[in-house]
Parts: sequence; C-alpha cells; structure tokens
Amino acid sequence: MHPGQVWHDNDGKPIQAHGGGVLSYNGSYYWYGENKDAPNVPGTQRVEVIGMSCYSSRDLLNWTNEGVVLPAVKDDPGCDLHPGRVVERPKVIHNTRTGKFVMWMHIDDINYQYARAGVAIADRPQGPFTYLESVRPCGADSRDLTVFQDDDGAAYLVTGVLWHSAIQIVRLSDDYLRPDGASVRVLQRPGPPAGRESPAVFKRRGRYYLVSSGTTGWDPNVAEYAVADRMLGEWTTRGNPCAGPDAEITFHAQNTHVLPVAGRDDAFIVMFDRWNPNNLQDSRYVWLPAEFSREGDLRIPWRDSWNMDIFGG
Ligand code: DGJ
Repeated sequence: MHPGQVWHDNDGKPIQAHGGGVLSYNGSYYWYGENKDAPNVPGTQRVEVIGMSCYSSRDLLNWTNEGVVLPAVKDDPGCDLHPGRVVERPKVIHNTRTGKFVMWMHIDDINYQYARAGVAIADRPQGPFTYLESVRPCGADSRDLTVFQDDDGAAYLVTGVLWHSAIQIVRLSDDYLRPDGASVRVLQRPGPPAGRESPAVFKRRGRYYLVSSGTTGWDPNVAEYAVADRMLGEWTTRGNPCAGPDAEITFHAQNTHVLPVAGRDDAFIVMFDRWNPNNLQDSRYVWLPAEFSREGDLRIPWRDSWNMDIFGG
C-alpha cells in the first residue's frame, strides 16, 4: 500500500472512488466512491457529477472496476443526481432482513444549501443502484455523512448538521431506508472553522470511535476523534489521532471511512482522501493502519508504504 501515489485498477486505470467507503461482503471488498474522472468545471473547484463508482477486491490491493453503479441523471435538472448538483461521500451497508444493499450519500446544490441525505438500493453489491429519494434527517440540514452498521443489526446515519457545526447521529429504520426518529447531536461547536466534517465511525472492543475533520473546504486541517459507549450516547473528544510529518494537516488529506479488515482481529484501515481542488480527478488515496494503546487511544502514524502483514497472521 503506497499512500498518496496514483492507485490503478486491474485495467491499469487510476481508481475513481473519492470520498468513499468499503463494504466487506461474502469474502470480497466493495469500494464505493465519487467518480470524478473529468476536468474541473473551468474556474471552479468542482467537477460535474458522473456518479458513484464501485470496485471489487479480495485483497484490498487488486481492484476490479465494477463500473458506475449509480450514474448521474442528465436529462432532468430537477433530479438530485443531475450533473449540475453535488453528490458526495457514498457509503453502503447490507441489510440482512431485506437482502438489499443500501447506499446513503450527501446530496446538495453547488452552493451547499440544499443539504440533504440521499438513499439508493441494489440487489447486488455491484449494483445497479436505484435512487429512491433525499431527506433532511429529523428536519435538519445534512452534509458530509457516513453510515454505521452495529453488531446487533441497527444502523445509523451520521451527518454534519447546522452547517457542520455539530454531528447528528440518527438511527435508521429496520430496512435502513429512513430515519426512525431516535437521534442525538454531538460534538457541537460554535461553527466554522471549528466545525466537524467527514464523519467516519467504527467499533472496537465494544467502544465506538468517530473520526472527523475540521471545515476548510478542500484544504486539509487537523483531524480529531471522539469515543462513546453507545451510538446515541455521550461522545468524548480525544484530539488528533494522526502522528508523524504533517499530522497537523492530516498528511494533506481528509478522512472518509474506517474499514475493519475481514477475518483479522483488531485490524482497522483508516481511509483518507488527498484532494486536489484544482484538478479533482487527480485526488489521491491515503490508507493507513490504525493503532491502539492499551487504554484504547487511537493513533494513526504516517507510513510511506505498508502491507497487510502489519496486522499479523
Ligand atoms: C469538504 C467535504 O468534506 C467534501 O466532501 C467536499 O464537500 C468539500 N468540502 C467541498 O469543498
């Protein structure tokens, strides 16, 4: 694994899966992310929406392009998935009750005023996904988001709320398609630039961890993590988990997801995006192994390169 270098798929093409997350299912990994394979709209720091990509792998190193599994909708300017919108940070979980694969994503207009969470479903992890709708969870704005599926099957939508000045955690209905009404607002700040973006949640030894960034557009800033004993409980801020050169600007990157490595005990990979605002299609991926102290403190040291042996047998 070479953080920050260009990563190619099995066809030799640069991987396009930005702001993404990885689903582990049936012995394979499925990496979903924003396909930004187009030049920036001239004079802007955005690309038109192409859709959500999916790549599959058995080893997290060799990735097969499964295509754009949720494409933009070009002929309807009113559609949430129109190329002129913002569609970011897809995260997919599998619902064992319904059998469906459920994707949640940030839906917005180019001024980030629409601020909604969109949901799509598929029968297979490789899609195609069918877009259902967007919602304002519990009546609130919703921007950067993730979903977290707990051991007991409950799932939670975790989103930036109140212009990213807090994180809202919303429990989802049994089918994972809508908020069920239970929610908390946590990590509340006075507002930008001190707010929180890019939430990513994982569970280790019965404790929940939430990694997030500050709010400085595409520019890197200091990461932070918080811990809780319950998803809808109290969250305690623990500071910057990154260590090493440029740890104060998250190694020139922004976290997007934390991936538990399948079949390995206590093995987590923290996924980051190294954005290139003036040429977004050349944004890179930084994946690093998580370390934990005896007390459970999270540490993410920089590594120029690493391999899965780091997690032991
Ligand atoms: C930071 C967010 O985390 C990204 O997903 C994206 O929305 C940029 N801001 C846009 O500036």
